[in-house]
Amino acid sequence: MATQKTTSDKDRKRDHIELTARAQLAAATLDRRFYFEPLLAAHPEEPPFQQSFLFLGKQMRAPLWVSSMTGGTEQAGRINRNLAKACRKFGLGMGLGSCRVLLENDERFEDFNLRPILGDELPFFANIGIAQLEELLEQKAVDKLPALCERLQADGLIVHVNPLQEWMQPEGDRFRRPPLESIEELLSNLPLPLVVKEVGQGFGPQSLRALLSLPLAAIEFGAAGGTNFALLELLRSEEEKEAFEPLTRVGHSAEEMLNWVRDLLADPSLQPACDSLIISGGVKNFLDGYYLLERSPLPAVYAQASAFLQRALVSYEALETYIEQQLQGYYLAKAMLKVRGNE
Ligand SMILES: Cc1cc2nc3c(=O)[nH]c(=O)nc-3n(C[C@H](O)[C@H](O)[C@H](O)COP(=O)(O)O)c2cc1C
Repeated sequence: MATQKTTSDKDRKRDHIELTARAQLAAATLDRRFYFEPLLAAHPEEPPFQQSFLFLGKQMRAPLWVSSMTGGTEQAGRINRNLAKACRKFGLGMGLGSCRVLLENDERFEDFNLRPILGDELPFFANIGIAQLEELLEQKAVDKLPALCERLQADGLIVHVNPLQEWMQPEGDRFRRPPLESIEELLSNLPLPLVVKEVGQGFGPQSLRALLSLPLAAIEFGAAGGTNFALLELLRSEEEKEAFEPLTRVGHSAEEMLNWVRDLLADPSLQPACDSLIISGGVKNFLDGYYLLERSPLPAVYAQASAFLQRALVSYEALETYIEQQLQGYYLAKAMLKVRGNE
């Protein structure tokens, strides 16, 4: 039996007496998503995050993914290198932020050149917006995308679908055709795994049905409930965009989306061709992550963006501590919590 002693027994007993009044928790604040089963497992071993598994054709060592964020500035390069270093240490997958600048030239290539840091084993995906995809398709220049992935040694491409962000963005693009058409056309031209994601609003049931029918490597939710890019662009906008503010409050949570995926997979009229999920958007911590993964009807990892960004901005050490604790929490949850409704 291992013990962790930092204070004497006498100090500890005194702390208990002094802190009891502050350590009262109302039943109304309990997390009702789980059954707590303290009898059934030992504490997980440390380090607990060594079980490797295959995801998108690569080996990961923890079910956690760094969602697409940033690139194209010096600060972004530093953040990306911190993120990649942490992915390597803990065995996480990673999506790059929009690689749009690399479609023009390679001046900022080093911001995105993370494969040497990540190593070969982990999944690593390039990223572009649906507006750039539309443009490339129009220019018959879609072969720039496999070339981009090759330069980056990326395993595939993520396309982000972000109509409300573009609408609110002062310099935003306008889509001239439905994103689904552009994605279908890309799929018939791209010899690489493709992931489609939203950026913080999520996908409704009809969009999810369409995505599940496509031969995608994964759907990344980019669900609502966390970073909201429509709102973020509204905050950036100097023009009068206030009128569109109600649109920032539409969207779907990751849990709602998982329920639709489950219903859709049970529908015999759907022929699913996509069999993996990256559950992202508003995932606040490991407990949300554990809950969502347990609810997932498809092989999945959970993902965060802003939570990593906040730590990576401080220092690599801050990011490492954050991830280490999140994974410890995740494996503790896995040992002691059962999701209600899963039995
Ligand atoms: C600073 C920042 C930049 C982002 N840039 C991109 C991007 O270039 N491409 C993309 O697909 N998503 C981008 N996202 C969206 C995230 O991948 C994610 O879908 C969204 O932030 C929701 O996750 P969160 O609630 O954990 O932050 C960005 C997010 C942040 C915070």
